[in-house]
Amino acid sequence: MPETYPAAHSDALPDDFLWGAATAAYQVEGAVDEDGRKPSIWDTFSHTPGRVDGGDTGDVACDHYHRWREDLGLLGELDLDAYRFSVAWPRVQPDGDGTVNEPGLAFYDRLTDALLEAGITPFPTLYHWDLPQALQDRGGWPVRETAERFAEYTAVVADRLGDRIQHWCTLNEPLCSAWIGHYEGRMAPGRTDIADAVRASFHLHLGHGLAVQALRAAVPGARVGIVNNLTHCEPASGSAADTEAARRADGHVNRWWMDPLHGRGYPQDMVELYGTEPPQRPGDARTVAEPLDWLGLNYYFRNVVRDDPAGPFPRARTAEPPAGARVTGMGWEVHAEGLTKTLRRMTDDYGARCLYVTENGAAYPDAVGPDGQVHDPERTRYLEEHLAACVRAVRQGVPLRGYFAWSLLDNFEWAYGYAQRFGLVHVDYATQRRTVKTSGRRYADLVRTHRARRNRAA
Ligand code: IFM
Repeated sequence: MPETYPAAHSDALPDDFLWGAATAAYQVEGAVDEDGRKPSIWDTFSHTPGRVDGGDTGDVACDHYHRWREDLGLLGELDLDAYRFSVAWPRVQPDGDGTVNEPGLAFYDRLTDALLEAGITPFPTLYHWDLPQALQDRGGWPVRETAERFAEYTAVVADRLGDRIQHWCTLNEPLCSAWIGHYEGRMAPGRTDIADAVRASFHLHLGHGLAVQALRAAVPGARVGIVNNLTHCEPASGSAADTEAARRADGHVNRWWMDPLHGRGYPQDMVELYGTEPPQRPGDARTVAEPLDWLGLNYYFRNVVRDDPAGPFPRARTAEPPAGARVTGMGWEVHAEGLTKTLRRMTDDYGARCLYVTENGAAYPDAVGPDGQVHDPERTRYLEEHLAACVRAVRQGVPLRGYFAWSLLDNFEWAYGYAQRFGLVHVDYATQRRTVKTSGRRYADLVRTHRARRNRAA
């Protein structure tokens, strides 16, 4: 296999570039009814027949709630600088209200201390889709109260961990919560109403802005950001219809999520397309656009778009990958150049001054071989190509400050259950045995190469 990431690339990256890996609470923790945790919308959704492939649930997942010390050891084995994890709201506030569940909060306290002892920077996300079911029962993200409760919960976590944690992320991929959870119905809470989805998107944005304020009030020097899954959209043909469809797709996945954060409001063409105004009150737009210290990009694939006037919003669909294109186990086209382009877009169009790739990775059907190893050349190639794409972006002036592989561990891949494996580390779900894949070892090599260069320069 050709080397797609020469060691010399390390010279392009800043000395303080953070190398990390990411997970999310419901995908790895398990222990869903321990120490006072109560159900989230994902517990409800995954236990609803027909919602998740194979009837899988996050009840046990990677049992990370009990095996977290071993998993921190894996971060050390991979020589990583940072760990992006998410805090489970239903552990900290099981009823989604002011009542704090001390044992739940204490879990993240222990995790934080252990990370710092190991020299690993904690990078928590406050919301990675696990809304307490009690708040869903009161209306969920389509109602304003949820945004206010999110800010209260954020303040609780910030008060407890803010003396030790500097980097904070409010939301992970609000697009998925709003569009997939409330319009497409393929994620919790499984609704299929565009008006609900628009209202949910606005309250996610508002909750984000209120959470930024809460973090700044509680944590002097906090560096606060948000993580979006954006992508490069391009028309499948030169036709006017496909060109227009690509503009709508861009509005749906990129502009709707970025414009309000940058004080530009919601794109009017999309408001007209959806036929629903976000329920903003005076002053809200300013709250949503609270200045950010960094932006996170989760990138997996590009979007080649065809017009689909009778299809679901945005009346456009993703074209089949071109003949000969490589696709991952999810059927997603491997297209590293789209990462460079999306990073450029965030810099050129939105003036980003500090960016992280907060997720990037690929699912393949890995298995432990007779030699006890997990050989995953396709993921290794994906990783190298996308890191090379990051280096190209940096050479073009993008202020990229770190990269987090998705994911540290194979885990519960939402509606796909356990069939899709994204980890740098293989998990045997029957025994919970962890095996570092060859892609994980290659990633560690790249990290060490960059660190050696940094140490030489110091
Ligand atoms: O597993 C998810 C993660 O929770 C959010 N971003 C995309 C990943 C892969 O689908």
